[in-house]
Amino acid sequence: MPAKGARVEIAVIGAGVVGLATAWRAAARGARVTLVDPRPGSGATSVAAGMLAPVGELAYGEEDLLRLGLASRDRYPGFVAELEELTGRATGFRSDGILQVAFDADDLRALADLRRFQESLGLPAEALTGREARRLEPMLAPGVRGGLLAPGDGSIDPRRLAPALLAAAEKAGAVLVRERAAAVLVERDTAVGVRLEGGGEIRADQVLLAAGAWSGDVAGVPDGVVPPVRPVKGQVLRLRARGPVPFLGRTTRGLVRGSPVYLVPRADGEIVVGATQEELGFDTRVTAGGLWELLRDARELLPGVTELEFAEVTAGLRPGSPDNAPVMGRSALPGLVLGTGHFRNGVLLAPVSADVLASVLLDGEVPGVGRPFTPDRFEVGR
Ligand code: GLY
Repeated sequence: MPAKGARVEIAVIGAGVVGLATAWRAAARGARVTLVDPRPGSGATSVAAGMLAPVGELAYGEEDLLRLGLASRDRYPGFVAELEELTGRATGFRSDGILQVAFDADDLRALADLRRFQESLGLPAEALTGREARRLEPMLAPGVRGGLLAPGDGSIDPRRLAPALLAAAEKAGAVLVRERAAAVLVERDTAVGVRLEGGGEIRADQVLLAAGAWSGDVAGVPDGVVPPVRPVKGQVLRLRARGPVPFLGRTTRGLVRGSPVYLVPRADGEIVVGATQEELGFDTRVTAGGLWELLRDARELLPGVTELEFAEVTAGLRPGSPDNAPVMGRSALPGLVLGTGHFRNGVLLAPVSADVLASVLLDGEVPGVGRPFTPDRFEVGR
């Protein structure tokens, strides 16, 4: 640890939303922060649709993750207001709810089960008939069987959020080094900084490893400390609606013959359609089959999607962990803090992760909301 009164030096490997948000919060609290990333905001952050959906994306057995997601969703309005005011940049934040819809009778049963699960957890969930769902979203197919509205969920544009976070972090004094981190520097069994690909070094009191799906591949981290994350590929399609009336009023997530698909509208007419979930290692190829799946399911729910203009197709790598939840906190290597494994929820969890990680880095404490997610849950023998 630094001498009493000296500023804590923190090196952050990875400038996705989690690394950026933590850098901002830690720098704002007085730490000297260096962010290391050749292309900030370019990984999963730039592909993600940006759903803020702890309720809409709720999965069975993930109640701890739900609590973390709700805590982060609650922080979002204040987080965004502060960020937008500080930087003068818009982020496309919306909190107008997420509509889940069912295509066939089996999908409707699955939605009814989900509603019961949500209710058992005390979450507000409004069940809608097919007609009521179409009243909310007139472009929905006539055959859509029913819906479920998660009123507090929403979305944000990660491609706007990331530059705003970088601007805020820099305003708070953080410095960006546009280089790849070749390794965590370890001396006397302690992380003491980052070795850069170009040969330079950044010395730091603490290193935060927030490199998303690549967090397990940064050299220098001893076996047993390497975070258990793997890449989970998601292909995402971007379309553009140009009519005077919005094509879609709010984020709509559907089950189509058991297959999930979501469409996230932006104020400028962009519609983000996602996402596949594929275990193929570090493969970011866009495939005809992946695209076909997205378009097939999106068209079943909203036949008008085929009239929209094609804008872009990308594939990103989610950092998946063994229990689908983030890995946040001190590692078994002194000086190394992990902030990774956010899987399908990096954008949602950025505000709460930044608070948890800033507290770990600067106070040496894991706040209550972060306790179920510390790295030691994966240590052998626990
Ligand atoms: N949260 C949406 C996804 O990961 O596809």
